[in-house]
Amino acid sequence: MAKWTPSSWRALPAKHIPDDYPDLKALQDVETTLKGYPPLVFAGEARRLKARLADVSEGKAFLLQGGDCAESFKEFHPDNLRDMFRVMMQMAVVLTYGAGQPVVKVGRIAGQFGKPRSSAVEERDGIVLPSYRGDNINGIAFTPECRTPDPKRLLQAYGQSASTLNLLRAFSTGGYANLRNIHKWTLGFVDGSKQTQKYKELCTKITEALDFMEACGVTPASTPQMAATDLYTSHEALLLGYEEAMTRIDSTSGRWYDTSAHMLWIGNRTRQLDHAHVEFMRGIENPIAMKVGMGLEADELLKILDVLNPENEAGRITLIARYGHENVAKGLPHLARTVKEAGRKVVWSCDPMHGNTIKTATGFKTRPFDYILSEVKDFMQILHAENCWPGGVHFEMTGQNVTECTGGMANEVKEEDLSSRYRTHCDPRLNANQALELAFLVSEELGKNRKSEDARLAG
Ligand code: PEP
Ligand code: CO
Repeated sequence: MAKWTPSSWRALPAKHIPDDYPDLKALQDVETTLKGYPPLVFAGEARRLKARLADVSEGKAFLLQGGDCAESFKEFHPDNLRDMFRVMMQMAVVLTYGAGQPVVKVGRIAGQFGKPRSSAVEERDGIVLPSYRGDNINGIAFTPECRTPDPKRLLQAYGQSASTLNLLRAFSTGGYANLRNIHKWTLGFVDGSKQTQKYKELCTKITEALDFMEACGVTPASTPQMAATDLYTSHEALLLGYEEAMTRIDSTSGRWYDTSAHMLWIGNRTRQLDHAHVEFMRGIENPIAMKVGMGLEADELLKILDVLNPENEAGRITLIARYGHENVAKGLPHLARTVKEAGRKVVWSCDPMHGNTIKTATGFKTRPFDYILSEVKDFMQILHAENCWPGGVHFEMTGQNVTECTGGMANEVKEEDLSSRYRTHCDPRLNANQALELAFLVSEELGKNRKSEDARLAG
């Protein structure tokens, strides 16, 4: 294989990277500036996440990855970050309880800006403009000025990512995430919901267990894991110029790390074997993920795994299945079997969002809760049947009370409600209630699997 450098991707064809910056020199200047900026994460943290994902690949932990489809400059607010953090913590508590295992928490946050779009242009009333590609590239307003890519947006995205991470680190280790606070993580606007009720009941059980443990001498002071948490960051490594600028040699290991996030992933539309995105990702040491869906053949997947993980290192690769509820049973079993038979160490995760997007008669992109749940359940059953560990879930969600996905048991969102709080800059997200409900349902499935596994072992 040709020598890898942070810029070797530039010689290869690349999809979904904008090529219509009016001033290329200005883009290069911004990239040079970014190269001098501090890393957002440390290599040691990325290594720790890889080790935790290795546990997931061995069936000893569960991965919860979630956050916005696209972060935006407009929705950047400490309350939104706090609400997202809270809902992640709530979900993690529910899943830990159901799985009886540690939950590895990874946000789609602090860098999840750039979006691949199905069409390069958008037409409205006969006017054609470039599509919106994410706040780090252009603006969402339908005007020629806004839709023109502006390199300065990359600097703003970096700044927003840095302050987001700063707050997340403070929440994680500053006392807020102490398990003694689980009752306080509930969100005001969902207070009366059935989900919150269920969550509160669970908190009471956990608090009783903590009281018991404290009586035995196990306290947050003696066991730091009880007083703090780890929330890792991730985003799609789409805009390779930015990722290249953030890629640095780690002085401890002498290896290259992309310091823009702990974990990066390759999207469903940019995973071509001989293209730029796979080339860039093969050279960084971070744990990486790749979306897999309809159209990806098993032999192609093995070839990509050879390139991305030639040493078959556990924790290096997460495969995020995103088939859609109607297709998951068609595509996933063969892929899972092939990967297992080839002895490849991977984490299997389920993105039940991107294959389940529909458009309503009134023009809203939405995702019915039932489709999402159906895909997660099928995913878990399929992997169980193939003797693989259904290691995680990947959701687009928010801590806000939005109306973007329809359905859900608590405050049901109906099609006619979508217009009331439809705030996403790209795809429809689960609101806090729907996300918590899903965590309970996934947790029940994990509990069932655990019981059938115990029964099998008991023989
Ligand atoms: C995404 O995760 O926002 C996304 C674009 O997904 P996919 O690459 O699976 O379509
Ligand atoms: Co999306």
